[in-house]
Formats: sequence, C-alpha cells, structure tokens
Amino acid sequence: MIVLKLGGSVICDKSRPFAIRYTVLNRIAMEVARFLQEEKKAKLIIIHGGGSFGHYVVYEYFKNKGVLDIDALVTIEYSMLELSVTIASHMIAAGVPVSLITPHGIAGFNLDNSLRIYTEWIERLLEIGTIPLLYGDAVISRNGAIKILSGDVLAWELAHKLQADKLLFATSVDGVYTSNPERPGAELLSVVRLSEINKFSYDKSSKFDVTGGMFVKLKEGIGRIRPGMKVYIFNGLRNNEVYKALKDKPSKGTVIIP
Ligand code: IPE
Repeated sequence: MIVLKLGGSVICDKSRPFAIRYTVLNRIAMEVARFLQEEKKAKLIIIHGGGSFGHYVVYEYFKNKGVLDIDALVTIEYSMLELSVTIASHMIAAGVPVSLITPHGIAGFNLDNSLRIYTEWIERLLEIGTIPLLYGDAVISRNGAIKILSGDVLAWELAHKLQADKLLFATSVDGVYTSNPERPGAELLSVVRLSEINKFSYDKSSKFDVTGGMFVKLKEGIGRIRPGMKVYIFNGLRNNEVYKALKDKPSKGTVIIP
C-alpha cells in the first residue's frame, strides 16, 4: 500500500490566499491515473496539505483572535473541504476514483497528544478499489481543544498504522536540504537518517505556514517509520515526478531511513 502526500505548496501558491495551481493539479491527477492504469492492483491513499486554504485561515484567526475557537474550527474545516472537493473533482475527472474522507470526522487527539484515527472504513474503501482522499484539517481533542492535524502527521500515522510499503511526500522543493533551500550553500541530501535530523535548521516555508514545514515532516516519522518502508521526499512541481515516485523511481529527491 502506498500513501502519497501532496504538499500544500504543490497544489497551491502559498504566497497568496486561496490560490490553487490548477495546471499542476491536473497534471498530477493524470500522473496518478497513468500509474493506476498500469498497476491495477495498487492500493493508494492520497493526502493533501492545507496550502493557501487551511494555513491562511488558521493564520488569520491567530492574528486576529490569538486562539482557535468554534468559529475558527468550522471555518478551517469548511475551507479545507472546499480545497479537497476541488482536488477530488480533478482526480475523478482524470479517472482516479477518490473517496473523500473528512479527517475531523474520524480523527482527533488523545489527552496525551497522541493521534487517534478510526481506520476501519479507510481499509474497506481501499479493499474495494477506491483511493481514500484525506487532508490536513482542524480536529478536536478529547477535552474539546481545537487543534490542527497536519497532512504530514496524518500521512505518517496512516502509513504506520496500515503498514504502508511506501510513503511519498510531493513537495515544492527537490528534497531535504542541509538548511533552507532558498539560502546560498544549502545542499540537497540524497539520504536522511531520522535519528540525525536535529543537525538541520529550517525556517517556516511561508509566513502562512502554521504546521512547521520540512522539519515536522521529518520529525513525525520518528517512531512511525519501519524497516522496509520506502519514504521519499521529492519535487511534485516537476513533470512526471509523482508518477516516477509511485513507480519507485524518483529522478531526484531524498530517501528517508530510520
Ligand atoms: C495543514 O496541513 C492543515 C491546516 C492548516 C488546516 P499541512 O501542514 O499538511 O499542509 P501543507 O502541506 O504544509 O500545506
């Protein structure tokens, strides 16, 4: 089973609120469709990030109110659902039979901050041949606190719990760099050992990013990666790269190991 996370900065222009990159979305939907035509038995879960929808709304609430209240919760949920419906419609039009699942209805946080997801119906949907589509969302914890569940955490947790063979992170950069890739001197790493990630320093990917960018993407893998799980971080803005990663042959990128 494969978990594919489409980073919010791949499907959206994160520098502008509510800006979807339709051309990229169309192309990726076609690349996934091509892969599924070739690998008819493949089991795939797609997760996407908040991009300039979720991140922007959370940022605005924090800026104006300092906290996430009920109004924030439902607005974040709604804006993420809007983004996800657009992604679903492009996927379905390309022939990718996605089954859209709202994460806040099946996931939340325990009091110790661990994530709890009800996966039974995701597994049944996979078995009958649909592609479950989920996303980073606003969810609640057992004491009613409102929290952001990033698509990266969701992707790691599902890959871990459902024992995925492959976890693919399509991002807007070529992989993991020694520091922020916009800075001179940053070097692309072909392999990253999760036990060594504290060596790197990263900035947030944009001023709207509320879930921590690349560092969190890596950190959340600790305790969730297992030997034999292939984990790639690659550039989903490059043509055919999603297809190649699904086929196990990304042309460039970073392999993550325990
Ligand atoms: C963020 O999910 C979800 C919300 C802000 C509601 P991610 O953290 O996975 O989003 P991207 O991929 O960085 O945009």
